[in-house]
Amino acid sequence: MSTSVENRGQFGSKIGFILSAAGSAVGLGNIWKFPGKAYNCGGGAFLIIYILMVVFIGTTVMLGEFVIGRKTQKNAIGAIRELNSKYTWVGGLGILTGFIILCYYCQVGGWTLKYIVGYITESSTIYADPMAYFTGNLLGADRFPVQGAIVYPIIFIFLTAFIISRGVSEGIEKMSKILMPLLFIVLIGLTIRSCTLPGASEGLYYMVHFDPSTINANAFLVALGQAFFSLSLGMGVMITYASYLSKDENLVANTGIVCFLDTMVALLAGFMIIPAVFATGIDPGIGGGFAFATLAGVFMSIPGGTIFGCLFYFLLFFAAVTSSTSILEGTVAFLVEEKGMDRKKTVVIVSIILAIIGFFYTMSQAHMDLKGIWISREGISHPIFGDFMEYLTDRLLLPLGALTTTIFAGWIWGTDNAIQEATSDGKYKFALAPVWAFLLKIVAPIAIAIIIIAGMFLGMS
Ligand code: PFF
Repeated sequence: MSTSVENRGQFGSKIGFILSAAGSAVGLGNIWKFPGKAYNCGGGAFLIIYILMVVFIGTTVMLGEFVIGRKTQKNAIGAIRELNSKYTWVGGLGILTGFIILCYYCQVGGWTLKYIVGYITESSTIYADPMAYFTGNLLGADRFPVQGAIVYPIIFIFLTAFIISRGVSEGIEKMSKILMPLLFIVLIGLTIRSCTLPGASEGLYYMVHFDPSTINANAFLVALGQAFFSLSLGMGVMITYASYLSKDENLVANTGIVCFLDTMVALLAGFMIIPAVFATGIDPGIGGGFAFATLAGVFMSIPGGTIFGCLFYFLLFFAAVTSSTSILEGTVAFLVEEKGMDRKKTVVIVSIILAIIGFFYTMSQAHMDLKGIWISREGISHPIFGDFMEYLTDRLLLPLGALTTTIFAGWIWGTDNAIQEATSDGKYKFALAPVWAFLLKIVAPIAIAIIIIAGMFLGMS
């Protein structure tokens, strides 16, 4: 799918759109980020807070982005400009956020590639000490992190850029028809295995136990940022996708399906990984070892686990690519359509910048101590550059992007217009339209604003 204006198509089928939107939503956010957040924020209670955030705020914002996109049939910036040119910066903010996310997204995407290769060539090394493999082999705990910061991320960036510049997204879309359901099935299988590992019940209990003492402002903040990240909201990606939809599509139903699928994958990932954390005793620390180190314990325990490991990381890699391409497309479309840059050149330049900034993300996971030795981030409790990037996007820029989108759709463009578009000019009436309008105009902006402000006081915890 290309976003170039002269070449605008439409999704041939409803399933094509759902696959692309769900493909953008389902990614590393669900499998690498979500379990870590659930683990750190108290398990069961966090799951409830997260679901509430998705149901009340996530769906509201997603439908808001969908109506803006379909109404104007333009990419994020063009769409907002068309509705009210004074607010074009709202789209620009989303592009900036996407770019920062992409810098670290491609690093972690690269790690999935490393693990595909790792399970093929050296599974016994992974099994021998999964955490050491993650910190040492990937992040270069005692040496320069060549693989995790340079080689694999560059391959991942190259693949993302290749897909964008060759316009082969249609092929990717076709592959998603098979691979996304397969990911779902593999996740279910691994979740069952993980939950039945000896010692997993404690982890399961952690995930279903409602402990009110873990409910605090931080949990709300983390849940909100995670919901936006996971649903690909607050950066205009969904505006761009919906711009390819015709009036025949029911936007409300599509919103429900995409949010539901994305949340199911996140929850499954939580129930796949946290019980394994308890069963294997691998403490993933506060770094990103969750989807990498802990799962080794699951693969080790199943017949043919090495093949499953390889398949799992391949599917995770695929899910990551369908997300990274959706972000890169936004950045490139902006520079090409708004700044008149050449498409191929833009892809190359952006890719190089991504590799350089992303390099520092991974490098910061491995510190250099005073003797010039690289040490892993294990045991380092102060925030590092990588934390700062995630803090900036999840806690500030994504919520800010969603806030400005809701204010724009609810107040500037207006809820009457928004409802008219959401119902396809009255074709698909939905009883909850007034509720959505209220959420869009009042509840979501206030809730998001409170959470952003609270977050500033909480700092980078
Ligand atoms: N939603 C993706 C994930 O959960 O991995 C990440 C992402 C994609 C965020 C596209 C934002 C975006 F616009």
